[in-house]
Amino acid sequence: MSTRYWRFCILHLCLFHACSLHLESTIPKSLDESWSSASSTSLYLSREPLAAVTDRSITSSTTPSGISQSLSLYSLQWTPDDRISIPVRSTWRWKDAVLGDGRDFFVPKPKTIQKLQSIFMDNIPGLEECSVLSNCARFAVLCKWNDTDVPTVAERDLRCEALSFCLLHQVDYNDKTAKKHLATLTQSLDLPKLLSTELPSTVEVDSAVQELSRHWDCIHDISAIMLHLCKVSAGTSERPRRPDRQVIFRPYSSRDAHILLQLKRTKAAVSSRSGVLNDLLELAIRAGKAARNEMIVPALKELKPYGSSKDPPLDLSIEVQEKVIEDAIEPLIQECLEKWKASTNKDSITTLRQAAESLSTSDEELAIIRKLLHQPTIELRRSPETVDVQQILDDIDYKLQSLRKSKASLI
Ligand SMILES: *[C@@H]1O[C@H](CO)[C@@H](O)[C@H](O)[C@H]1NC(C)=O
Repeated sequence: MSTRYWRFCILHLCLFHACSLHLESTIPKSLDESWSSASSTSLYLSREPLAAVTDRSITSSTTPSGISQSLSLYSLQWTPDDRISIPVRSTWRWKDAVLGDGRDFFVPKPKTIQKLQSIFMDNIPGLEECSVLSNCARFAVLCKWNDTDVPTVAERDLRCEALSFCLLHQVDYNDKTAKKHLATLTQSLDLPKLLSTELPSTVEVDSAVQELSRHWDCIHDISAIMLHLCKVSAGTSERPRRPDRQVIFRPYSSRDAHILLQLKRTKAAVSSRSGVLNDLLELAIRAGKAARNEMIVPALKELKPYGSSKDPPLDLSIEVQEKVIEDAIEPLIQECLEKWKASTNKDSITTLRQAAESLSTSDEELAIIRKLLHQPTIELRRSPETVDVQQILDDIDYKLQSLRKSKASLI
């Protein structure tokens, strides 16, 4: 299996949509049934529906340089075959018990989610912002790191292990403290005290942590993270409860649109209101709305006759989903990337100006420096990737030195 294929499978595994399916009378009521059926089949490995759509979009949108955001999206998978992983299953079970399982309707638990986020931020080195996306069929953690350089593979592994370690600690804690007879009650309440803040000060990587670490689908590319979130929001992703069926895109179903509300709640609980994760979730919500808007995606009308319950022909469904990506999602992703790029450029201009101006020893020199900064500032605004900031500073410094020397020789 190539990593790419794995990524594709996982991208579609844990989706919000099972929640809405949950409301359907034709679907088994108990979530346990679905967990067990998910882990006892190998259907997730059996086909590649819509691979063309996903792959085209992921590979065609590469991250433009000049954006310094360092992000990761970790989505927990099911055990994909018969070798049932105990740490993975217990983490899913813990998720159901503490964050909710979507029985009836997914109950958002903002306090518990926020506390979990701060536990991650306190215990995972380098983590600056965090958003936990959790509902009946999904458990994902969106992270913003403090990196200045691209992290190494080893650094990325450590982060994933730290995340797994924090979670398994919660699983243990819950196993020890949970009152079994109250499980049904606590499952539907927002109870942050079900989480433990007393974590060991160092991450201990035992075999369970290693095992869980291998079961995250990790995306680090900004555009791929954006696309993934947008597709989840748009409802064009695979439904985990129906792994044997192609995705049913139902832009006219209010039940499927419930995802937008869940994302709004997720956004309201994000660790930083003004941060980049907030922007990402906002993007996903906008994309979800655009994907259901006939003015933006005229092709949607072709699905209208099928309403929210009848399945359109597969070819048509695929065709319309491609249009959704083209007309609704990709333009919004581009817009968001441009916005970030502009603000990153603004930051680098400020940094350059401050560094250069600090070289001056007099007002006269300051005026010269500002003149010298004029051209580089324009270039930085236009194409930051071609500008060598250190070289500019060195040049300014050199010019100042020679100026000072020639002045001294005049005296
Ligand atoms: C990021 O965080 C780690 C862990 O707290 C710290 O060691 C590192 O110096 C930080 N890096 C930057 C660039 O701030």
